[in-house]
Formats: sequence, C-alpha cells, structure tokens
Amino acid sequence: MAEDRQTITAAFDWRAPNYAKSEWHRAYAAQLVEAAPVRAGHRVLDAATGTGFAAIALARRVDSSGRVIGVDLSAGMLAQARAAIRAAGLGHVVLVQGDAAEHPPFAASTFDAVMCSAGLLYMPFASALREWRRLLVSGGFVGFSTMRGGFPMPGRLFRDCAAEYGLRLPDPSAPLGSEAAATAALSAAGFTDITIVPGSVTLSPSDLAMAWESNLRSAAHSPVRELSAADQTRMRGRYLTALDAARLADPSLVARAEVLYAFGRRGRTAAPSADERDVSADA
Ligand SMILES: C[S@@+](CC[C@H](N)C(=O)[O-])C[C@H]1O[C@@H](n2cnc3c(N)ncnc32)[C@H](O)[C@@H]1O
Repeated sequence: MAEDRQTITAAFDWRAPNYAKSEWHRAYAAQLVEAAPVRAGHRVLDAATGTGFAAIALARRVDSSGRVIGVDLSAGMLAQARAAIRAAGLGHVVLVQGDAAEHPPFAASTFDAVMCSAGLLYMPFASALREWRRLLVSGGFVGFSTMRGGFPMPGRLFRDCAAEYGLRLPDPSAPLGSEAAATAALSAAGFTDITIVPGSVTLSPSDLAMAWESNLRSAAHSPVRELSAADQTRMRGRYLTALDAARLADPSLVARAEVLYAFGRRGRTAAPSADERDVSADA
C-alpha cells in the first residue's frame, strides 16, 4: 500500500528515537542482509534506510572497498542513523534524505544491489521495484523483506479493535506477504532468479510495550487518529486488554512474526538496454 509521504515522514520522525532501540527491527534487517549475496566491494543502495540497521550490516559486508548509500524520507530517522554509523566508525556509508521509490537521484546501472528492509510496504511497490531494477548493473540484485500477511499479530489486533469503530483498515503486509505475491511483484518488475526465504522475528517485551503508540502512529492506521479523543481512549483500553489476553494465552504466538526475504536479479544483457543508457541523474 502506498502511503502519503508527509504522513509517513511525520510518523517516522516521531518514532525515530524509540525505533532506534527496536530489537526486532534490528534482527529483521540483519537477517535480510545475512541472506543476501552481498560481497566486499559492492555498491549498495539501502532504500528506506531508517535508523540504519541494514545500512550498518551492509557496510560491514561490503567493507571499506565498497559503498552503502542510505536513502530515507525522515530526517528524524536519518539523524539516528548518522549517530549509529558514526559510533560504528563506518566511513563508507552516505545518507541522503529523499524518496527512494520515486525518481531516486541516481544514474542507471549505479548499484550492485538495492536492498529494502521493512520499507517496501510504504511505497508503490510495483514502480519502486521497476525503478530499482533500472539502478542496478546487469547481474545486480534486489532484496527486500516483508511480513507474511496477518503479521505482526499486535497490528492485526489493532485493526480488529478499529473495526469495532467501523474502521476497515487494510493489512499493510497483505500485498507482498506471501511467496506468490512477492514472486509476482519481482517478476512483474523484470527480475529473474527469484528466491524467497521464509523466516521469523520475535518482538521483545519492550517492542510490545510500544505496540499501541507504534500502531496508532502508523501511516496505514491514520483513520484511527481521526477518532474523537474519547473513542481513542476507549479503543486504547480495549486494545491493551486484548493484547494482554493474547499474551497470557500464548506469549510466543503474539511475539513471533513470520517474515519473508525476497531476492531477484537483473538479468545479464549482451548490450545495454535503453534504460541502462539513461544517465540523466548523477550518482
Ligand atoms: C519500518 S522503517 C524501516 C527502516 C529500516 N530499513 C529498517 O530496516 O529498520 C520504514 C522506513 O521507510 C521510510 N520510507 C517510507 N517510504 C519511503 C520512501 N518513499 N522513500 C524513502 N524512505 C521511505 C520511512 O521514513 C522509514 O524510515
């Protein structure tokens, strides 16, 4: 689902300090990078880099002979990323504020890999994948992560509670959240050698403690913010009770989220195609 850029930026500016402490997002990004065929010397675009979880893991894999460029809409998230990258002493990561999906400011055939950890659900994914394919060298690859449809469970519970107020919020994980959907999206964008790796991540108690605020601020859940203050308070109480009951019934079921890591390659071409020759933007 593509979300309004301003809403997304505001939501992540607000979430940035807590997001930087999110253990499951860190693990989710690390597993994507772990599964990716990134090598020393690679030039990698980290689309929707956020607080830099994937960018830092990527920078260690490409080492100082490679380069990582992290792009994100949110200045707040990028400030956290900048601090983490400085603390890690990684001089070969560059951060850029901007839209990673729509006309990203890089020349065609610039990158060996484009990675997107936990970010594609916020973008018009069909055009973003096509755009990223254009940025890849021949033989380069794209990798993204997505929750399986219906995960994480605290988000599903939030939408169930919203439904009690007449709000039908779509599951943001649904459009890419199956092997078939992720494969179809990559294939439609022209990628080949598609691999989908299933995995899981576990939300920590501190992640779960932030579940109400994180879901309320989510760009996908903006209609809930239009409810009256009284209804929001009532819905919060209902949500926290439902979350506690689910935790008591089976703590691991609430905390465990099924995820997919999806990869595709830009096929090798004998001669540069028209879009490979397009060098209208500077890297
Ligand atoms: C859930 S966070 C993921 C951050 C990071 N990749 C990670 O793995 O932790 C989603 C990020 O996507 C960014 N984002 C959403 N749409 C974007 C777009 N069109 N261009 C650049 N960044 C975008 C948000 O600002 C936010 O930082």
